[in-house]
Amino acid sequence: MTPSHRHLLQIEGMHPPQIEAMLDLAESYVLLNRSGKTQRDLLRGRTLINLFFEDSTRTRTSFELAGKRLGADVINMSVSTSSVNKGETLLDTAATLNAMMCDLLVVRHDQSGAPNLLAQKVDASVINAGDGTHEHPTQALLDALTIRRRKGRLQGLIVAICGDVLHSRVARSNIHLLSAMGAIVRVIGPTTLIPAECARLGVDVFHDMNKGIAGADVVMMLRLQRERMVGGLVPSAREYFRFYGLDFEKLAHAKRDVIVMHPGPMNRGVEIDSAVADDPVRSVIKEQVEMGVAVRMAVLDILSRESRRNV
Ligand code: ASP
Ligand code: CP
Repeated sequence: MTPSHRHLLQIEGMHPPQIEAMLDLAESYVLLNRSGKTQRDLLRGRTLINLFFEDSTRTRTSFELAGKRLGADVINMSVSTSSVNKGETLLDTAATLNAMMCDLLVVRHDQSGAPNLLAQKVDASVINAGDGTHEHPTQALLDALTIRRRKGRLQGLIVAICGDVLHSRVARSNIHLLSAMGAIVRVIGPTTLIPAECARLGVDVFHDMNKGIAGADVVMMLRLQRERMVGGLVPSAREYFRFYGLDFEKLAHAKRDVIVMHPGPMNRGVEIDSAVADDPVRSVIKEQVEMGVAVRMAVLDILSRESRRNV
């Protein structure tokens, strides 16, 4: 969130009490969702627009569900059939939606920083739903909620993030959040996929997966973001799996009660073996999706209290 708390643009800069408060509120929405009830009075009269310039299944759907469960009018703008195709810029598109008195603008864009730019131009609260390789803040929050529910805490846990860290906004947001909350973060991957900034961010870098996973409480797998790769940064999928694909043999190096996470979408047989992904004991991938709805309800709830249109 920015200092005004009006937008949610990135995890970097958020303080632990803010993160805790968000997770605590999300916890109450988990219970509400499981009870089958809704709270439609909370955002009644508010409009949420999903503006996705990149593909999405989980994030877009869960923002839609979250908005509807809290009573907002939700519009999914189809960018592929919008006037963006006639050359309208991102800023003009946002200004147009803003003029329609949209209260909450959920934006996914392939350019890092696009939501930050919009936040300076519109009255609506802007929520970053993933921008380029920069951040995916609600993903990190839902991951943190999932871990906290399973492990009871974040502090002191060893979290190994494995795969295409270079292009992953999920990894970046998680590194910021988990480090802020006192977890020990490791990244694992081939040298071509580990950014130099990892050293500055204070995470431990491993190129040998067995060593990186050793003693981990949480193993978080990442998809190869081929859409962002320039040139051949990885060998064949088969060879990548041999070194960096998570199977039970490699997972055996982690703690016995390790949990396995993946933000989705998964590429089975590339970064994760199907048997591990579907392991009913260790895999929490479906739980992550459930937490995604609760976290987004909490985010909408908090931001709507700060919305400029309130005043
Ligand atoms: N869905 C996540 C993102 O949009 C992760 C991925 O696509 O691999 O960043
Ligand atoms: N985890 C995630 O952001 O998934 P989608 O790309 O399907 O939204």
